[in-house]
Amino acid sequence: MSTVAVIGSAGQLGTDLVAVLRESGRHRVVALSHRDIEVANPRSVRDALGAVRPDILVNCAAFVRVDDCEDQPETAFLVNAVGALYVAQACRESDALCVYISTDYVFDGQKGAPYTEEDCPHPINVYGASKLAGEHLVRQACPRSLVVRTASLFGLTGARGKDGNFIEAIIAKAERADPLRVVDDIRTSPTSGACTWYEFARTILDYAGAEATPQAVSSHEYGARARRPADSTLISARLPPLHISQLRPWQEALRAYLIETGRAPRKGH
Ligand SMILES: NC(=O)c1ccc[n+]([C@@H]2O[C@H](COP(=O)([O-])OP(=O)(O)OC[C@H]3O[C@@H](n4cnc5c(N)ncnc54)[C@H](OP(=O)(O)O)[C@@H]3O)[C@@H](O)[C@H]2O)c1
Repeated sequence: MSTVAVIGSAGQLGTDLVAVLRESGRHRVVALSHRDIEVANPRSVRDALGAVRPDILVNCAAFVRVDDCEDQPETAFLVNAVGALYVAQACRESDALCVYISTDYVFDGQKGAPYTEEDCPHPINVYGASKLAGEHLVRQACPRSLVVRTASLFGLTGARGKDGNFIEAIIAKAERADPLRVVDDIRTSPTSGACTWYEFARTILDYAGAEATPQAVSSHEYGARARRPADSTLISARLPPLHISQLRPWQEALRAYLIETGRAPRKGH
């Protein structure tokens, strides 16, 4: 039985990944939270991975607060790039497959069509640049490596670095009757397909049976510190030849999330 280690195991993606891998019963799964490993410290990385000796390592650890990355570029690059390098070097030394989780924010959003693995990255914020640097360093340091880009995650744990996930934030604001201003000029792909954050929010409220009406605003009006790509929709060109199906539509994933968290959708779509 192969050993899979997951770094960032207490985070949003890491929590669900560990659960899914354990449920599969096909691997020995070792969960490494921030308490168990500091990716920015090469000794901590070597010690932790030396003790586990994984066949496959999935690095979900990251500094994910996109706006804070603008103010703290050193931390962004230390965790997302240099830390990823230390992990990849340790994988090379033990011949483990190194999987680095990356992001749609490596793209500038100007393509006008979904991005595939073949498109040339061009990040427009520090977070995206640090993650792209991480991709390059992982590939350079570890011959057995995979880069997996994902976008707009929503997991049961919620991104710790972001104080929850988008779905929970929208529902909580609706329940408190807080004003709901949501950006309508940025398109993303939560799992597969695409929507603006405003369309995503409207669908969340609809499925959750909440009465609130969000207000569509431009990203300029919203005023986030970091620029975001206008349309960073992702689609995979490499999964079909491997006979791996594309991810399910985001509406289906949203419905599953709401059922899992005890908020049955009001009606089908
Ligand atoms: N969230 C999204 O929408 C999104 C979109 C595209 C790609 N991604 C990528 O997906 C991956 C997972 O993101 P996520 O949403 O699961 O983020 P998350 O919930 O913030 O999880 C990241 C985890 O990494 C840990 N961590 C942070 N710095 C670390 C360090 N220096 N050493 C060791 N562990 C560290 C964090 O622990 P502490 O909280 O204790 O520091 C946290 O548990 C990341 O690579 C991210 O770039 C995320």
